[in-house]
Amino acid sequence: MTQTQTQTQSTDDDLIPAPLSVERRGTAPGYVTLDARTTLDAGPGTGSTARWLRSVLGAATGLPLAAGPGPHAIRLRIGEEAEREHGPEGYRLSTEATDAAVVIEGGGPAGVFWGAQTLRQLLGPDAYRKAPLRPGRDWDLPLVTVSDGPRFGWRGLLLDVSRHFLPKDDVLRYVDLLAAHKLNVLHLHLTDDQGWRIEIRRHPRLTEVGSWRARSKRGHRASPLWDETPHGGFYTQEDIREIVAYAAERHVTVVPEIDLPGHSQAAIAAYPELGNTDVVDTTALTVWDTWGVNPNVLAPTEAVLRFYEGVFEEVLDLFPSPFVHVGGDECPKDQWKASPAAQARIEELGVGDEDGLQSWFIRHFDRWLAARGRRLIGWDEILEGGLAEGAAVSSWRGYAGGVTAAEAGHDVVMCPEQQVYLDHRQAPGDEEPMPIGYVRTLEDVYRFEPVPPGLSPEAAAHILGAQANVWTEVMENRSRIDYQVFPRLAAFAEVAWSALPAPEARDYSGFERRMHTHYRRLDALGVDYRPPAGPHPRQRRPAPEGLECTLGRPLEGTPPIV
Ligand code: ACM
Repeated sequence: MTQTQTQTQSTDDDLIPAPLSVERRGTAPGYVTLDARTTLDAGPGTGSTARWLRSVLGAATGLPLAAGPGPHAIRLRIGEEAEREHGPEGYRLSTEATDAAVVIEGGGPAGVFWGAQTLRQLLGPDAYRKAPLRPGRDWDLPLVTVSDGPRFGWRGLLLDVSRHFLPKDDVLRYVDLLAAHKLNVLHLHLTDDQGWRIEIRRHPRLTEVGSWRARSKRGHRASPLWDETPHGGFYTQEDIREIVAYAAERHVTVVPEIDLPGHSQAAIAAYPELGNTDVVDTTALTVWDTWGVNPNVLAPTEAVLRFYEGVFEEVLDLFPSPFVHVGGDECPKDQWKASPAAQARIEELGVGDEDGLQSWFIRHFDRWLAARGRRLIGWDEILEGGLAEGAAVSSWRGYAGGVTAAEAGHDVVMCPEQQVYLDHRQAPGDEEPMPIGYVRTLEDVYRFEPVPPGLSPEAAAHILGAQANVWTEVMENRSRIDYQVFPRLAAFAEVAWSALPAPEARDYSGFERRMHTHYRRLDALGVDYRPPAGPHPRQRRPAPEGLECTLGRPLEGTPPIV
Protein backbone atom coordinates (compact mmCIF):
# COMPACT_ATOMS: atom_id res chain seq x y z
CA MET A 1 0.00 0.00 0.00
CA THR A 2 1.34 3.39 -0.98
CA GLN A 3 1.62 5.94 1.72
CA THR A 4 2.88 9.46 2.05
CA GLN A 5 6.50 9.50 3.17
CA THR A 6 7.45 13.13 3.24
CA GLN A 7 10.13 14.69 5.36
CA THR A 8 7.68 14.61 8.25
CA GLN A 9 7.29 10.83 8.00
CA SER A 10 3.58 10.98 8.65
CA THR A 11 1.97 7.62 8.01
CA ASP A 12 -1.41 6.00 8.25
CA ASP A 13 -0.42 2.37 8.71
CA ASP A 14 1.32 2.49 12.06
CA LEU A 15 -1.58 3.54 14.24
CA ILE A 16 -1.75 1.98 17.72
CA PRO A 17 -4.29 0.87 18.73
CA ALA A 18 -5.27 -0.19 15.22
CA PRO A 19 -8.44 1.57 14.00
CA LEU A 20 -11.41 -0.25 12.52
CA SER A 21 -10.70 1.04 9.02
CA VAL A 22 -8.44 3.38 7.08
CA GLU A 23 -9.36 4.39 3.54
CA ARG A 24 -6.80 6.07 1.35
CA ARG A 25 -7.80 8.28 -1.56
CA GLY A 26 -6.90 6.47 -4.78
CA THR A 27 -3.42 5.07 -5.16
CA ALA A 28 -1.45 8.28 -5.55
CA PRO A 29 0.43 9.53 -2.51
CA GLY A 30 -0.73 12.89 -1.34
CA TYR A 31 -1.10 14.95 1.75
CA VAL A 32 -2.58 18.00 3.38
CA THR A 33 -0.40 20.33 5.37
CA LEU A 34 -0.81 21.92 8.77
CA ASP A 35 1.03 25.23 8.93
CA ALA A 36 0.77 28.78 10.27
CA ARG A 37 -2.62 29.18 8.54
CA THR A 38 -4.15 26.24 10.40
CA THR A 39 -7.00 27.11 12.76
CA LEU A 40 -9.02 25.14 15.27
CA ASP A 41 -12.74 25.18 14.54
CA ALA A 42 -14.41 23.71 17.65
CA GLY A 43 -18.13 22.92 17.50
CA PRO A 44 -20.40 22.57 20.54
CA GLY A 45 -19.17 19.99 23.05
CA THR A 46 -15.63 19.81 21.62
CA GLY A 47 -14.02 22.54 23.70
CA SER A 48 -11.88 20.27 25.88
CA THR A 49 -10.43 18.53 22.82
CA ALA A 50 -9.67 21.90 21.22
CA ARG A 51 -7.86 23.00 24.39
CA TRP A 52 -5.93 19.75 24.47
CA LEU A 53 -4.97 19.98 20.78
CA ARG A 54 -3.85 23.58 21.14
CA SER A 55 -1.74 22.68 24.13
CA VAL A 56 -0.05 19.49 22.83
CA LEU A 57 0.13 20.23 19.10
CA GLY A 58 0.89 23.88 19.78
CA ALA A 59 3.85 22.82 21.95
CA ALA A 60 5.13 20.16 19.54
CA THR A 61 4.75 22.17 16.34
CA GLY A 62 5.05 25.79 17.46
CA LEU A 63 1.96 26.56 15.33
CA PRO A 64 -0.43 29.17 16.75
CA LEU A 65 -3.61 27.14 16.00
CA ALA A 66 -5.88 30.18 16.39
CA ALA A 67 -9.59 29.63 16.95
CA GLY A 68 -11.98 29.80 13.99
CA PRO A 69 -13.27 28.12 10.83
CA GLY A 70 -11.66 28.25 7.41
CA PRO A 71 -10.15 26.23 4.58
CA HIS A 72 -7.12 25.32 6.70
CA ALA A 73 -9.05 24.42 9.84
CA ILE A 74 -8.98 21.35 12.01
CA ARG A 75 -12.74 21.06 12.34
CA LEU A 76 -14.12 19.30 15.45
CA ARG A 77 -17.74 18.24 15.53
CA ILE A 78 -20.08 15.87 17.34
CA GLY A 79 -22.24 14.06 14.81
CA GLU A 80 -25.09 11.60 14.79
CA GLU A 81 -23.59 9.57 12.00
CA ALA A 82 -20.41 8.85 13.94
CA GLU A 83 -22.56 8.02 16.97
CA ARG A 84 -24.71 5.63 14.92
CA GLU A 85 -21.68 3.95 13.40
CA HIS A 86 -19.45 3.43 16.42
CA GLY A 87 -21.12 4.87 19.54
CA PRO A 88 -20.22 7.91 21.65
CA GLU A 89 -16.51 7.03 21.74
CA GLY A 90 -16.36 6.44 17.97
CA TYR A 91 -15.13 8.94 15.42
CA ARG A 92 -14.43 9.59 11.74
CA LEU A 93 -11.31 11.51 10.85
CA SER A 94 -10.97 12.77 7.31
CA THR A 95 -8.23 14.74 5.62
CA GLU A 96 -10.14 14.77 2.35
CA ALA A 97 -12.51 17.72 2.90
CA THR A 98 -12.31 20.62 0.46
CA ASP A 99 -13.30 23.29 2.97
CA ALA A 100 -11.08 22.24 5.90
CA ALA A 101 -7.73 20.56 6.37
CA VAL A 102 -8.96 17.92 8.79
CA VAL A 103 -12.46 17.01 9.94
CA ILE A 104 -12.96 14.98 13.11
CA GLU A 105 -16.53 13.96 13.79
CA GLY A 106 -17.05 12.13 17.07
CA GLY A 107 -20.10 10.24 18.29
CA GLY A 108 -19.74 12.29 21.47
CA PRO A 109 -17.10 14.47 23.16
CA ALA A 110 -14.95 11.41 23.93
CA GLY A 111 -15.05 10.27 20.30
CA VAL A 112 -13.78 13.67 19.17
CA PHE A 113 -10.93 13.34 21.67
CA TRP A 114 -9.94 9.84 20.50
CA GLY A 115 -10.02 11.17 16.93
CA ALA A 116 -7.66 13.95 17.98
CA GLN A 117 -5.30 11.33 19.43
CA THR A 118 -5.32 9.63 16.01
CA LEU A 119 -4.54 12.98 14.38
CA ARG A 120 -1.46 13.29 16.60
CA GLN A 121 -0.31 9.80 15.55
CA LEU A 122 -0.80 10.66 11.87
CA LEU A 123 1.50 13.66 12.26
CA GLY A 124 4.45 11.44 13.20
CA PRO A 125 6.48 10.93 16.39
CA ASP A 126 7.69 14.56 16.53
CA ALA A 127 4.09 15.55 17.29
CA TYR A 128 4.69 13.99 20.75
CA ARG A 129 7.54 16.33 21.65
CA LYS A 130 7.17 19.10 24.21
CA ALA A 131 8.89 21.63 21.93
CA PRO A 132 9.50 21.77 18.16
CA LEU A 133 12.66 20.09 16.97
CA ARG A 134 12.72 22.20 13.78
CA PRO A 135 10.59 25.33 14.27
CA GLY A 136 8.85 26.60 11.15
CA ARG A 137 8.51 23.30 9.33
CA ASP A 138 5.20 22.18 7.83
CA TRP A 139 3.30 19.16 9.11
CA ASP A 140 1.97 16.82 6.45
CA LEU A 141 -0.94 14.43 6.86
CA PRO A 142 -1.74 11.55 4.52
CA LEU A 143 -5.04 11.73 2.62
CA VAL A 144 -7.20 9.33 4.56
CA THR A 145 -10.51 8.65 6.20
CA VAL A 146 -10.19 6.79 9.49
CA SER A 147 -13.38 5.26 10.85
CA ASP A 148 -13.02 3.94 14.35
CA GLY A 149 -14.57 3.04 17.69
CA PRO A 150 -13.65 0.91 20.71
CA ARG A 151 -14.41 -2.75 21.31
CA PHE A 152 -14.83 -2.21 25.08
CA GLY A 153 -16.11 0.67 27.21
CA TRP A 154 -13.73 -0.11 30.14
CA ARG A 155 -10.10 0.10 29.04
CA GLY A 156 -8.20 0.42 32.25
CA LEU A 157 -4.91 0.59 34.06
CA LEU A 158 -4.54 0.07 37.81
CA LEU A 159 -1.78 2.04 39.49
CA ASP A 160 -0.87 0.82 42.97
CA VAL A 161 0.14 4.07 44.66
CA SER A 162 0.14 2.41 48.10
CA ARG A 163 3.13 0.07 47.93
CA HIS A 164 5.12 2.93 46.46
CA PHE A 165 3.73 6.43 46.46
CA LEU A 166 3.63 8.09 43.04
CA PRO A 167 3.76 11.89 43.22
CA LYS A 168 0.82 13.81 41.75
CA ASP A 169 2.68 15.02 38.66
CA ASP A 170 3.59 11.45 37.78
CA VAL A 171 -0.07 10.43 38.10
CA LEU A 172 -1.04 13.28 35.74
CA ARG A 173 1.64 12.07 33.32
CA TYR A 174 0.12 8.59 33.44
CA VAL A 175 -3.30 10.05 32.62
CA ASP A 176 -1.70 11.49 29.47
CA LEU A 177 -0.05 8.17 28.66
CA LEU A 178 -3.37 6.35 29.05
CA ALA A 179 -5.13 8.87 26.82
CA ALA A 180 -2.37 8.56 24.19
CA HIS A 181 -3.32 4.86 23.99
CA LYS A 182 -7.09 5.49 23.98
CA LEU A 183 -7.41 3.96 27.45
CA ASN A 184 -10.14 5.53 29.56
CA VAL A 185 -10.04 4.20 33.16
CA LEU A 186 -7.39 4.92 35.79
CA HIS A 187 -8.02 2.65 38.78
CA LEU A 188 -6.13 4.15 41.73
CA HIS A 189 -5.32 1.62 44.45
CA LEU A 190 -5.21 4.20 47.24
CA THR A 191 -4.99 2.10 50.38
CA ASP A 192 -3.19 -1.04 51.50
CA ASP A 193 -1.20 -2.50 54.39
CA GLN A 194 1.87 -0.52 53.31
CA GLY A 195 0.34 2.95 53.05
CA TRP A 196 -2.83 5.07 53.08
CA ARG A 197 -2.57 7.65 50.31
CA ILE A 198 -5.67 9.88 50.39
CA GLU A 199 -6.42 12.67 52.85
CA ILE A 200 -9.63 11.94 54.80
CA ARG A 201 -10.45 15.06 56.79
CA ARG A 202 -12.56 13.44 59.48
CA HIS A 203 -9.91 10.77 60.15
CA PRO A 204 -6.59 12.67 59.94
CA ARG A 205 -4.44 9.91 61.41
CA LEU A 206 -5.06 7.83 58.26
CA THR A 207 -2.46 9.99 56.56
CA GLU A 208 -0.60 11.38 59.61
CA VAL A 209 0.27 7.83 60.68
CA GLY A 210 -0.86 5.63 57.81
CA SER A 211 0.97 7.27 54.93
CA TRP A 212 4.52 6.55 56.13
CA ARG A 213 6.42 3.37 56.82
CA ALA A 214 9.78 3.19 58.53
CA ARG A 215 11.49 0.95 55.97
CA SER A 216 10.69 -1.26 52.95
CA LYS A 217 11.53 -4.77 51.89
CA ARG A 218 13.84 -4.70 48.86
CA GLY A 219 12.63 -7.07 46.17
CA HIS A 220 10.60 -10.21 46.68
CA ARG A 221 9.37 -10.84 50.24
CA ALA A 222 11.85 -13.75 50.48
CA SER A 223 14.75 -11.34 50.02
CA PRO A 224 16.73 -10.58 53.20
CA LEU A 225 17.38 -6.99 52.11
CA TRP A 226 15.78 -3.84 53.46
CA ASP A 227 15.72 -0.26 52.31
CA GLU A 228 16.01 1.62 55.59
CA THR A 229 14.78 4.94 54.11
CA PRO A 230 11.31 5.86 55.42
CA HIS A 231 8.85 5.82 52.53
CA GLY A 232 5.55 7.63 52.18
CA GLY A 233 3.35 10.39 50.86
CA PHE A 234 -0.32 11.05 50.19
CA TYR A 235 -2.64 13.09 48.00
CA THR A 236 -4.43 16.01 49.60
CA GLN A 237 -8.07 16.44 48.62
CA GLU A 238 -6.92 19.33 46.40
CA ASP A 239 -4.47 16.98 44.66
CA ILE A 240 -7.25 14.46 44.07
CA ARG A 241 -9.56 17.11 42.64
CA GLU A 242 -6.79 18.17 40.27
CA ILE A 243 -6.12 14.56 39.15
CA VAL A 244 -9.83 13.87 38.60
CA ALA A 245 -10.38 17.11 36.65
CA TYR A 246 -7.24 16.59 34.54
CA ALA A 247 -8.39 13.06 33.73
CA ALA A 248 -11.94 14.17 32.91
CA GLU A 249 -10.59 16.67 30.34
CA ARG A 250 -8.94 13.67 28.70
CA HIS A 251 -12.03 11.44 28.94
CA VAL A 252 -10.37 9.23 31.54
CA THR A 253 -12.45 8.19 34.56
CA VAL A 254 -10.57 7.81 37.84
CA VAL A 255 -11.96 4.86 39.83
CA PRO A 256 -10.90 5.04 43.50
CA GLU A 257 -10.18 1.90 45.49
CA ILE A 258 -10.42 1.77 49.28
CA ASP A 259 -9.49 -1.83 50.09
CA LEU A 260 -11.45 -3.63 52.82
CA PRO A 261 -11.80 -5.75 54.98
CA GLY A 262 -8.26 -7.07 54.24
CA HIS A 263 -5.18 -5.08 53.15
CA SER A 264 -5.95 -2.71 56.02
CA GLN A 265 -2.91 -2.67 58.30
CA ALA A 266 -2.04 0.98 57.54
CA ALA A 267 -5.55 2.03 58.63
CA ILE A 268 -5.35 -0.17 61.75
CA ALA A 269 -1.93 1.27 62.62
CA ALA A 270 -3.56 4.72 62.50
CA TYR A 271 -6.74 3.71 64.38
CA PRO A 272 -6.08 0.50 66.38
CA GLU A 273 -9.78 0.14 67.26
CA LEU A 274 -10.44 -0.84 63.62
CA GLY A 275 -8.68 -4.18 64.18
CA ASN A 276 -9.56 -7.38 66.02
CA THR A 277 -8.47 -6.12 69.40
CA ASP A 278 -9.52 -9.26 71.29
CA VAL A 279 -6.92 -11.37 69.44
CA VAL A 280 -4.07 -8.94 68.68
CA ASP A 281 -2.59 -5.93 70.37
CA THR A 282 -3.38 -3.62 67.47
CA THR A 283 -1.77 -0.68 69.29
CA ALA A 284 1.57 -2.34 68.54
CA LEU A 285 0.97 -2.44 64.76
CA THR A 286 2.85 -0.14 62.40
CA VAL A 287 2.41 0.50 58.68
CA TRP A 288 3.63 -2.76 57.12
CA ASP A 289 7.16 -2.83 55.71
CA THR A 290 7.10 -6.03 53.67
CA TRP A 291 4.93 -7.64 50.99
CA GLY A 292 2.37 -10.45 50.81
CA VAL A 293 -0.98 -11.27 52.35
CA ASN A 294 -1.40 -9.72 55.79
CA PRO A 295 -3.35 -11.28 58.70
CA ASN A 296 -4.40 -7.96 60.27
CA VAL A 297 -7.89 -7.34 58.93
CA LEU A 298 -10.80 -5.12 59.97
CA ALA A 299 -13.06 -6.13 62.86
CA PRO A 300 -16.65 -6.89 61.79
CA THR A 301 -18.26 -4.22 63.94
CA GLU A 302 -20.84 -1.48 63.43
CA ALA A 303 -18.19 1.07 64.49
CA VAL A 304 -15.93 -0.06 61.63
CA LEU A 305 -18.82 0.30 59.16
CA ARG A 306 -19.49 3.85 60.42
CA PHE A 307 -15.78 4.71 60.15
CA TYR A 308 -15.60 3.56 56.53
CA GLU A 309 -18.90 5.21 55.63
CA GLY A 310 -17.19 8.43 56.69
CA VAL A 311 -14.23 7.58 54.46
CA PHE A 312 -16.50 6.83 51.49
CA GLU A 313 -18.52 10.02 52.02
CA GLU A 314 -15.38 12.03 51.38
CA VAL A 315 -14.34 9.73 48.53
CA LEU A 316 -17.71 10.17 46.77
CA ASP A 317 -17.37 13.90 47.11
CA LEU A 318 -14.03 13.78 45.27
CA PHE A 319 -14.60 11.10 42.60
CA PRO A 320 -17.61 11.35 40.25
CA SER A 321 -16.91 7.81 38.92
CA PRO A 322 -20.09 5.69 38.71
CA PHE A 323 -18.02 2.74 40.04
CA VAL A 324 -16.30 2.74 43.42
CA HIS A 325 -13.87 -0.10 44.17
CA VAL A 326 -13.97 -1.61 47.67
CA GLY A 327 -11.19 -4.17 47.24
CA GLY A 328 -12.37 -7.32 49.01
CA ASP A 329 -9.31 -9.38 48.01
CA GLU A 330 -7.01 -11.57 50.08
CA CYS A 331 -8.73 -11.24 53.45
CA PRO A 332 -7.38 -14.05 55.67
CA LYS A 333 -10.06 -15.28 58.06
CA ASP A 334 -7.73 -16.46 60.88
CA GLN A 335 -8.33 -13.51 63.20
CA TRP A 336 -12.11 -13.79 62.77
CA LYS A 337 -11.87 -17.53 63.52
CA ALA A 338 -9.91 -16.84 66.71
CA SER A 339 -11.90 -13.81 67.82
CA PRO A 340 -14.80 -14.42 70.27
CA ALA A 341 -16.23 -11.03 69.23
CA ALA A 342 -16.19 -11.97 65.53
CA GLN A 343 -17.73 -15.39 66.28
CA ALA A 344 -20.49 -13.71 68.30
CA ARG A 345 -21.05 -11.41 65.33
CA ILE A 346 -21.46 -14.39 62.98
CA GLU A 347 -24.17 -15.71 65.34
CA GLU A 348 -25.85 -12.35 65.75
CA LEU A 349 -25.92 -11.60 62.01
CA GLY A 350 -26.80 -15.19 61.09
CA VAL A 351 -24.20 -15.22 58.32
CA GLY A 352 -23.00 -18.78 58.98
CA ASP A 353 -19.22 -18.45 58.90
CA GLU A 354 -16.26 -16.16 58.22
CA ASP A 355 -16.95 -16.04 54.47
CA GLY A 356 -20.39 -14.76 55.45
CA LEU A 357 -18.73 -11.94 57.39
CA GLN A 358 -16.70 -10.92 54.33
CA SER A 359 -19.89 -10.95 52.29
CA TRP A 360 -21.65 -8.91 55.01
CA PHE A 361 -19.02 -6.18 54.67
CA ILE A 362 -19.34 -6.06 50.90
CA ARG A 363 -23.16 -6.22 50.86
CA HIS A 364 -23.29 -3.34 53.32
CA PHE A 365 -21.23 -1.11 51.06
CA ASP A 366 -23.05 -2.32 47.96
CA ARG A 367 -26.34 -1.04 49.45
CA TRP A 368 -24.69 2.06 50.85
CA LEU A 369 -23.18 3.00 47.47
CA ALA A 370 -26.35 2.13 45.54
CA ALA A 371 -28.37 4.43 47.84
CA ARG A 372 -26.02 7.22 46.72
CA GLY A 373 -26.32 6.46 43.02
CA ARG A 374 -23.00 4.61 42.70
CA ARG A 375 -22.03 1.04 41.92
CA LEU A 376 -19.72 -1.23 43.86
CA ILE A 377 -16.91 -3.08 42.16
CA GLY A 378 -14.56 -5.48 43.96
CA TRP A 379 -11.95 -8.20 43.38
CA ASP A 380 -13.32 -11.65 42.58
CA GLU A 381 -13.10 -12.81 46.22
CA ILE A 382 -16.33 -10.83 46.74
CA LEU A 383 -18.03 -13.85 45.15
CA GLU A 384 -17.24 -15.84 48.31
CA GLY A 385 -20.26 -15.99 50.59
CA GLY A 386 -22.54 -14.70 47.82
CA LEU A 387 -22.27 -11.71 45.53
CA ALA A 388 -24.06 -8.52 46.49
CA GLU A 389 -26.94 -7.59 44.19
CA GLY A 390 -25.57 -4.88 41.91
CA ALA A 391 -21.89 -5.61 42.41
CA ALA A 392 -19.41 -5.77 39.55
CA VAL A 393 -16.28 -7.92 39.65
CA SER A 394 -12.63 -7.33 38.75
CA SER A 395 -11.57 -10.86 37.76
CA TRP A 396 -7.90 -11.18 38.75
CA ARG A 397 -7.36 -14.83 39.73
CA GLY A 398 -7.79 -15.97 36.15
CA TYR A 399 -11.05 -15.92 34.23
CA ALA A 400 -13.09 -18.17 36.54
CA GLY A 401 -14.48 -15.52 38.89
CA GLY A 402 -15.40 -13.30 35.97
CA VAL A 403 -17.12 -16.14 34.14
CA THR A 404 -19.19 -17.07 37.22
CA ALA A 405 -20.15 -13.46 37.83
CA ALA A 406 -21.00 -12.73 34.18
CA GLU A 407 -23.10 -15.90 33.85
CA ALA A 408 -25.00 -14.74 36.96
CA GLY A 409 -25.69 -11.39 35.26
CA HIS A 410 -23.04 -9.26 36.96
CA ASP A 411 -20.76 -6.86 35.12
CA VAL A 412 -17.11 -7.86 34.92
CA VAL A 413 -13.74 -6.27 34.20
CA MET A 414 -11.22 -8.91 33.06
CA CYS A 415 -7.74 -8.43 34.52
CA PRO A 416 -6.35 -11.95 35.04
CA GLU A 417 -2.97 -12.00 36.77
CA GLN A 418 -1.78 -14.71 34.39
CA GLN A 419 -1.84 -12.25 31.49
CA VAL A 420 -2.11 -8.61 32.44
CA TYR A 421 -0.29 -8.13 35.74
CA LEU A 422 2.50 -5.88 34.56
CA ASP A 423 4.62 -6.39 37.67
CA HIS A 424 5.50 -9.79 36.19
CA ARG A 425 8.80 -9.71 34.29
CA GLN A 426 8.68 -9.43 30.54
CA ALA A 427 11.60 -11.66 29.60
CA PRO A 428 13.53 -14.59 31.09
CA GLY A 429 17.13 -14.16 32.20
CA ASP A 430 18.87 -12.30 34.97
CA GLU A 431 19.04 -8.96 33.21
CA GLU A 432 15.55 -7.79 34.13
CA PRO A 433 15.92 -5.07 36.78
CA MET A 434 13.74 -7.01 39.22
CA PRO A 435 12.89 -10.43 37.77
CA ILE A 436 9.67 -10.93 39.72
CA GLY A 437 6.97 -13.40 38.82
CA TYR A 438 6.20 -15.24 35.62
CA VAL A 439 7.53 -14.29 32.21
CA ARG A 440 4.84 -12.35 30.39
CA THR A 441 6.12 -11.01 27.10
CA LEU A 442 4.80 -8.29 24.84
CA GLU A 443 3.41 -11.04 22.63
CA ASP A 444 1.67 -12.73 25.59
CA VAL A 445 -0.14 -9.47 26.34
CA TYR A 446 -0.97 -8.99 22.65
CA ARG A 447 -2.64 -12.40 22.64
CA PHE A 448 -4.70 -11.74 25.80
CA GLU A 449 -8.41 -12.18 25.12
CA PRO A 450 -10.82 -10.53 27.58
CA VAL A 451 -13.83 -12.65 26.57
CA PRO A 452 -13.04 -16.33 27.18
CA PRO A 453 -14.42 -18.83 24.68
CA GLY A 454 -17.56 -20.63 25.75
CA LEU A 455 -19.16 -17.68 27.47
CA SER A 456 -22.82 -17.34 26.52
CA PRO A 457 -23.64 -14.23 24.45
CA GLU A 458 -25.70 -12.85 27.37
CA ALA A 459 -22.76 -13.29 29.75
CA ALA A 460 -20.28 -11.90 27.19
CA ALA A 461 -22.35 -8.70 27.12
CA HIS A 462 -21.49 -8.29 30.82
CA ILE A 463 -17.74 -8.08 30.13
CA LEU A 464 -17.35 -4.32 30.46
CA GLY A 465 -13.77 -4.53 29.32
CA ALA A 466 -10.25 -5.20 30.45
CA GLN A 467 -7.65 -3.75 32.74
CA ALA A 468 -3.88 -4.09 33.18
CA ASN A 469 -2.74 -3.94 36.80
CA VAL A 470 0.51 -2.41 38.01
CA TRP A 471 1.37 -3.53 41.55
CA THR A 472 4.38 -1.59 42.73
CA GLU A 473 6.10 -3.67 45.43
CA VAL A 474 9.25 -3.72 43.29
CA MET A 475 8.71 -0.41 41.46
CA GLU A 476 9.95 2.39 43.65
CA ASN A 477 9.74 5.23 41.15
CA ARG A 478 8.31 6.37 37.86
CA SER A 479 11.19 5.03 35.79
CA ARG A 480 10.66 1.49 37.14
CA ILE A 481 6.93 1.79 36.50
CA ASP A 482 7.59 2.94 32.92
CA TYR A 483 9.86 -0.06 32.39
CA GLN A 484 7.26 -2.58 33.55
CA VAL A 485 4.32 -0.89 31.82
CA PHE A 486 5.88 -0.19 28.42
CA PRO A 487 5.83 -1.41 25.76
CA ARG A 488 3.25 -3.90 27.07
CA LEU A 489 0.59 -1.22 27.60
CA ALA A 490 0.59 -0.57 23.83
CA ALA A 491 -0.30 -4.24 23.22
CA PHE A 492 -2.91 -4.09 25.95
CA ALA A 493 -4.45 -0.94 24.44
CA GLU A 494 -4.92 -2.72 21.13
CA VAL A 495 -6.57 -5.67 22.91
CA ALA A 496 -8.99 -3.33 24.69
CA TRP A 497 -9.76 -0.99 21.78
CA SER A 498 -9.32 -2.79 18.47
CA ALA A 499 -11.42 -5.45 16.78
CA LEU A 500 -8.74 -8.15 16.95
CA PRO A 501 -9.36 -11.73 15.84
CA ALA A 502 -8.96 -14.73 18.19
CA PRO A 503 -5.57 -14.78 19.98
CA GLU A 504 -3.87 -17.34 17.72
CA ALA A 505 -4.96 -15.47 14.56
CA ARG A 506 -3.58 -12.09 15.66
CA ASP A 507 -0.94 -10.50 13.43
CA TYR A 508 1.76 -10.07 16.04
CA SER A 509 4.49 -9.38 13.50
CA GLY A 510 2.35 -6.60 12.01
CA PHE A 511 1.96 -5.17 15.52
CA GLU A 512 5.74 -5.39 16.07
CA ARG A 513 6.29 -3.52 12.80
CA ARG A 514 3.91 -0.75 13.90
CA MET A 515 5.78 -0.64 17.21
CA HIS A 516 8.88 0.68 15.41
CA THR A 517 7.09 4.01 15.06
CA HIS A 518 5.46 3.69 18.45
CA TYR A 519 8.82 3.40 20.22
CA ARG A 520 9.70 6.77 18.67
CA ARG A 521 6.45 8.24 20.01
CA LEU A 522 7.34 6.85 23.45
CA ASP A 523 10.85 8.32 23.11
CA ALA A 524 9.35 11.72 22.35
CA LEU A 525 7.12 11.36 25.41
CA GLY A 526 10.10 10.48 27.61
CA VAL A 527 8.86 7.00 28.49
CA ASP A 528 11.56 4.75 30.00
CA TYR A 529 10.25 1.59 28.30
CA ARG A 530 11.96 -1.79 28.05
CA PRO A 531 13.81 -1.77 24.69
CA PRO A 532 13.01 -4.77 22.45
CA ALA A 533 16.64 -5.97 22.71
CA GLY A 534 16.51 -6.02 26.51
CA PRO A 535 17.19 -3.52 29.25
CA HIS A 536 19.58 -0.68 28.61
CA PRO A 537 22.64 -1.10 30.88
CA ARG A 538 21.39 1.72 33.10
CA GLN A 539 18.10 -0.14 33.56
CA ARG A 540 19.76 -3.32 34.83
CA ARG A 541 20.51 -3.95 38.48
CA PRO A 542 23.60 -5.69 39.77
CA ALA A 543 22.79 -8.93 41.55
CA PRO A 544 23.32 -8.53 45.29
CA GLU A 545 26.55 -10.19 46.33
CA GLY A 546 26.66 -13.17 48.61
CA LEU A 547 22.95 -13.79 48.79
CA GLU A 548 21.39 -17.22 48.61
CA CYS A 549 18.31 -15.92 46.81
CA THR A 550 18.12 -13.10 44.30
CA LEU A 551 16.19 -9.89 44.88
CA GLY A 552 13.51 -11.10 42.57
CA ARG A 553 13.11 -14.77 43.36
CA PRO A 554 10.67 -15.93 40.70
CA LEU A 555 7.45 -17.58 41.71
CA GLU A 556 7.64 -21.32 41.35
CA GLY A 557 6.34 -23.00 38.22
CA THR A 558 4.33 -21.44 35.46
CA PRO A 559 0.62 -21.18 36.04
CA PRO A 560 -1.69 -22.43 33.33
CA ILE A 561 -3.36 -19.69 31.33
CA VAL A 562 -7.00 -20.57 31.97
C1 ACM B 1 -4.87 -8.63 43.86
O1 ACM B 1 -3.94 -8.82 43.05
N1 ACM B 1 -4.73 -9.00 45.13
C2 ACM B 1 -6.11 -8.06 43.45
